[in-house]
Amino acid sequence: MKPEYPHALAARPAVRALTASKIRELFNAGIGRADVLPFWVGEPDEATPEFIRRAGMDSIAAGEVFYTHNLGIPELREALAAYVSRLHRPTQPGEIAVTSAGVNALMLASQLLVDPDDRVVEVVPLWPNLQEIPKILGAEVVTVPLEFAASGWQLDLERLLDALAPGTKALYLNSPNNPTGWTISREAQQAVLVHCRERGIWIFADDAYERQYYDATPVAPSFLDIADARDRVISTNTFSKSWCMTGWRLGWLVVPPALVDDLGKLIEYNTSCSPVFVQRAGLAAVRDGEPVVAHMLERLRRARDLLVARLNEVPGVEAALPSGAMYAFFRVAGVRDSLAFCKQLVGDVGLGLAPGSAFGPEGEGCVRWCFASSEARLLDGVERLRRALEMRRP
Ligand SMILES: Cc1ncc(COP(=O)(O)O)c(C=O)c1O
Repeated sequence: MKPEYPHALAARPAVRALTASKIRELFNAGIGRADVLPFWVGEPDEATPEFIRRAGMDSIAAGEVFYTHNLGIPELREALAAYVSRLHRPTQPGEIAVTSAGVNALMLASQLLVDPDDRVVEVVPLWPNLQEIPKILGAEVVTVPLEFAASGWQLDLERLLDALAPGTKALYLNSPNNPTGWTISREAQQAVLVHCRERGIWIFADDAYERQYYDATPVAPSFLDIADARDRVISTNTFSKSWCMTGWRLGWLVVPPALVDDLGKLIEYNTSCSPVFVQRAGLAAVRDGEPVVAHMLERLRRARDLLVARLNEVPGVEAALPSGAMYAFFRVAGVRDSLAFCKQLVGDVGLGLAPGSAFGPEGEGCVRWCFASSEARLLDGVERLRRALEMRRP
């Protein structure tokens, strides 16, 4: 007799309903093609600086291969508190939790506060992970779209405040924003903070790109500048972008002290702690890495200016100058299915861009180009785009 297996092997419905990454789908289509110029993934094109790698290697060599405190090694929490105090507001080590990169910081903040059926609000287009994380917990995600203008993507503040109705659990706000580069103004931030404070709405501020900001100040406006430790504000951050450390998987949270003990429990049951040698590398970055941040910013600023100017010379392309992050998120006339268009770019001219639809339906008609690259490669890419668009013309 054959045994019977009456129970289906399937993930929870909320997980089955998650959207698979369209960037990944495209990336797979380009696999094996050495001639593709890859601008689709959001990471710096430089390896982690030597002194940071050395700190990680020295730690391993010294035998630091054991668990640490759930919230991170004291030296790193102290250094991060000093860093946040310098950039934003006086912050104590007790308000800092070290995490396994930014995506884990966002998941932990969500697990801490978001229940099934909660309503959360997000400004979109937006990095897909941020859109899917609340759904894993069974929350409903309500979106407020940014609007494209030649001068840059714009937020309709009234529309956002209307969406932040009483009963909303949290606002997830990423500024500077991936993919558009939009950065919230201080005035809008004030209005959002007061509105959320009155209604008890949490603000999860994703500050991943705060050091990639091209305005007069070297750091983007953060909710940490205007909120205090009694506000329902959590800032999530990462070492990935500021110090070229995507593969190390290190990040942090700034949380109200009242939540820290519960957060420690969650870290225990998720990852227990970040690897100690990775934390040592992070300590070197945060203590001695300001020149790295400054160097990246200047390189990215030049790359942004060059790319956006050249893109706007291509017939059919309309690109706004992003005020932060490392992406141009631009319109291409006649493109209604950006995934199909990006597949065509890979196939026809070996150009790897990310489809706008990967960032939500509001991003359809656009494509994202990560400009953390050399000028020669960017110019080669623009020529390939020009050729591809000429081939599309009847
Ligand atoms: C908006 C945003 N937040 C957070 C992250 C987190 O990055 P990581 O998990 O590498 O720290 C990213 C990475 O692309 C991002 O785009």
